[in-house]
Amino acid sequence: MLKEKFDLAGKVALVTGSTRGIGKAIGDAFEEYGAKVVRHNTKVCDLSDPAAIDAFFDGLEKSGMLPDILVANASIQAKIPWQEFPMDEAMREIQVNFLATLRMFQRCYPQMKARKWGRLIVVGSVNERRPHPDMCVYAATKSAQENLVRGIGRQVAAEGITVNNICPGVFYTDRNRDCLADPVYGPKVTAAIPMHDYAMPEDAAGAAVLLASDAGRYITGATIMVDGGLSIPG
Ligand SMILES: NC(=O)c1ccc[n+]([C@@H]2O[C@H](COP(=O)([O-])OP(=O)(O)OC[C@H]3O[C@@H](n4cnc5c(N)ncnc54)[C@H](OP(=O)(O)O)[C@@H]3O)[C@@H](O)[C@H]2O)c1
Repeated sequence: MLKEKFDLAGKVALVTGSTRGIGKAIGDAFEEYGAKVVRHNTKVCDLSDPAAIDAFFDGLEKSGMLPDILVANASIQAKIPWQEFPMDEAMREIQVNFLATLRMFQRCYPQMKARKWGRLIVVGSVNERRPHPDMCVYAATKSAQENLVRGIGRQVAAEGITVNNICPGVFYTDRNRDCLADPVYGPKVTAAIPMHDYAMPEDAAGAAVLLASDAGRYITGATIMVDGGLSIPG
């Protein structure tokens, strides 16, 4: 039965940045489908600190909670023109949005390989296709993640591990609340989306459950746009 293939019972899922926004919606959906979800935010482990990531994973390992499913969802973004972008801020974005993902993949991999089952999922952005002029660094970190997905996906595909990228478009979350509420900028943003509407956090959850479950076992190295058509070239 296809329905049973979406079942996540018996799986441990770590979703970074899962106390609000898209990460919370994905975590909630995984719980609905039976997974044990490790909730995460900056207080649990600040991904800008490489030592904190290892300490966090040491703790997960000790408590038998290393994930079968990892969703690298948390990210940071600064809106600054590229000519003025401070190097320390660029390094922070590279660390949180890219290097932390690589390190988490490394920490998850041995157990996934031993179990011959694993799901490595990153949350990218429509900025991979249409970089916002003042978020070039953020967009580049997301493209780096996408490349990592393909590079690693190919190597681990025969081990029962899939690696994929979910790319949101414009979602109504804390980081967009103010600009979407802006009477001038908000309607301009939605008018540019072929569906003429922004997404709610739950709109990313279906793709995540598919990729995390056996229903998606043959999908790897893929980028799934969840963007209402925003990335379709005009
Ligand atoms: N919203 C959109 O329109 C949109 C569009 C394209 C892509 N995306 C991507 O979708 C993902 C989720 O976005 P969102 O809008 O749902 O995010 P959000 O509402 O801004 O929430 C971000 C989450 O990440 C956590 N986080 C931030 N910095 C962190 C750090 N240094 N260490 C650990 N955790 C950290 C936050 O924890 P705290 O609560 O502790 O701060 C929070 O739980 C991101 O990767 C984003 O780039 C979003």
